Amino acid sequence: MYFKDSKGFPSDFLWGSASAAYQVEGAWDSDGKGVSNWDKFVRIPGKTFKGTTGDKAVDHYNRYKEDVALMAEMGLKTYRFSIAWTRIYPNGNGEVNEAGLQFYDNLINECLKYGIEPMVTVYHWDMPQALEEQYHGWENRQIVDDYVNYATTLFKRYGDRVKYWITMNEQNIFTSFGWLEGMHPPGKVDDMKMFYQVNHHANMAHAKSVIALKELWPEAKVGASFAYSPSYAIDNKPENAMAKADYDDLKNYYWMDVYAYGRYPRAALAYLEANGVAPVFEEGDNAIMKEAAQLVDFMGVNYYQTTTVEFNDIDGVGTSHEMNTTGKKGTAKVQGVPGLYKNPQNANLPTTDWDWTIDPMGIRMCCREITSRYDLPIVISENGLGAFDKLEDGEVHDPYRIAYLKAHIEELKKACDDGCRVLAYCTWSYTDLLSWLNGYQKRYGFVYVDREEDENSGTLNRYKKDSYYWYKKVIETNGEEL
Ligand code: BG6
Repeated sequence: MYFKDSKGFPSDFLWGSASAAYQVEGAWDSDGKGVSNWDKFVRIPGKTFKGTTGDKAVDHYNRYKEDVALMAEMGLKTYRFSIAWTRIYPNGNGEVNEAGLQFYDNLINECLKYGIEPMVTVYHWDMPQALEEQYHGWENRQIVDDYVNYATTLFKRYGDRVKYWITMNEQNIFTSFGWLEGMHPPGKVDDMKMFYQVNHHANMAHAKSVIALKELWPEAKVGASFAYSPSYAIDNKPENAMAKADYDDLKNYYWMDVYAYGRYPRAALAYLEANGVAPVFEEGDNAIMKEAAQLVDFMGVNYYQTTTVEFNDIDGVGTSHEMNTTGKKGTAKVQGVPGLYKNPQNANLPTTDWDWTIDPMGIRMCCREITSRYDLPIVISENGLGAFDKLEDGEVHDPYRIAYLKAHIEELKKACDDGCRVLAYCTWSYTDLLSWLNGYQKRYGFVYVDREEDENSGTLNRYKKDSYYWYKKVIETNGEEL
């Protein structure tokens, strides 16, 4: 749509920024914290870039006051962070760890002190290792009860102060990287059957915790954050349009339909059943998924890029089990599902050094698609540019990040004009942090943190990048000055 005059962002728009516990906190074994699957996985040689770990990360656990003060000075309206399950339940279930609960009390109170709305992610990929050992974590239906128990502990403790809750971060990514690509724990490869079963367990955990939250705090706002890559058919050949329909059903609607409608897309289920990989349901699952979908308040979207779709022959490319983790442009491989689709690069768009397509209009596409398919409000829970940054004389000049964010915010503003109900925009990330597979070389923050891959490197001091001052202005002018 074209509007001569923009209405701009709503006056209560939440300008934010995001992080995840494993990527920022460090203090991996402090104050009674248990071991997570990531604490284990990063110690397997060859799994992460130069063997980096989150043992120390950027020490947010000890420096959260300094970080929140920087947010306040910037004028941030919301801070999205995740809670480490292993700080709350060191063994995943059983005894609760008061010191862990206290840490997040402090963090939440620190945000509120400055009028920053805490937005809490319950699960951002760090599963208690004890549950892996007890019953293989997500693979066992038992996880649903343990997840709901953990989530409910958080709701009870923090629900008086936390209004915005995100149940899961990028379920589509942690399950595909964990059970198809082998790049995240538990490091399984092409286990389709388990992949769909694990997803069903995660959907039930999400659904039951949404219901539990609303019983305790009916006014709370809840959703899941989905890594949404809207798709473009490579051209107008009908087989490529059909490949796009297959891609959307299997890679996008397969999750978003569950969150918003409480059901899987019919064509996707038919395909899974025909291939013997459909998930096993328990009696009552459908009703629970439907009930939760009625209660969900927004669709959380982590938007980084769009995807191009082309028909893929039955003997065509499959999963590549690798990604560009070096930052050497042009090294990513084309992936696909034989007989359905493959995802070549988009020749019309530039990419980052890690071969992620840069497509600002894609963020508007996300909002439009969600609005017309689900008619739900939207929280952009992540968007940002991973880049090599350089600290020189205490300064970081990152015009590329400013250009990236500016272009995306401009498109988001158009989505608001289109009538999409966008509640919040969180950049990824606030400070620099650990990139799961790319170490500390791939930076996203407004605040530079002095450290490199070597655990003993750097002072961990914080430095404001140029983008910090730029975003401050964006917030002050509610997105008018970009
Ligand atoms: C999202 C995740 O997938 O993208 C974050 O929610 C992650 O945790 C971010 O860090 C960027 O990915 P990467 O691989 O560049 O660190």
